[in-house]
Amino acid sequence: MTREELKAAAVAMLDRAYIPYSHFPVGAALECSDGTVFTGCNIENASFGPTICAERTAVAKAVSEGHRDFVRIVIAGRSRELCVPCGVCRQVLREFAPNIEIICLNGAGEERTFTLEELLPHSFGPEYLQ
Ligand code: THU
Repeated sequence: MTREELKAAAVAMLDRAYIPYSHFPVGAALECSDGTVFTGCNIENASFGPTICAERTAVAKAVSEGHRDFVRIVIAGRSRELCVPCGVCRQVLREFAPNIEIICLNGAGEERTFTLEELLPHSFGPEYLQ
């Protein structure tokens, strides 16, 4: 998938977001090293705490289908600010892909690309437990 196609896949997921409480849709498209793409949206809950972010929805879909080798993720929002990943999602991406490229979009289609290292410096990961 091209970068533009991956961006479009993330944007398309905005319409799948289940957001009765925040009304803040997020879409994600996660690309694996073999080119497989898993998409996700945020899924909220009346009890608030169980809400899952779009990025983690995509990661859960990928890992449960046997994919862990992530190279790129697009995160799309409709707000004025770029939709950057929350701290929990940064840590979840770190588990599998410390070198992943993170492309963040705002509602105007503007983008900025980050490395995970930029967003989560000095991070804790699986190797610390060995
Ligand atoms: N959200 C995401 O889906 N990803 C993020 O990284 C930031 C926050 C969602 C969670 C919640 O449904 C809504 O955005 C407002 O916080």
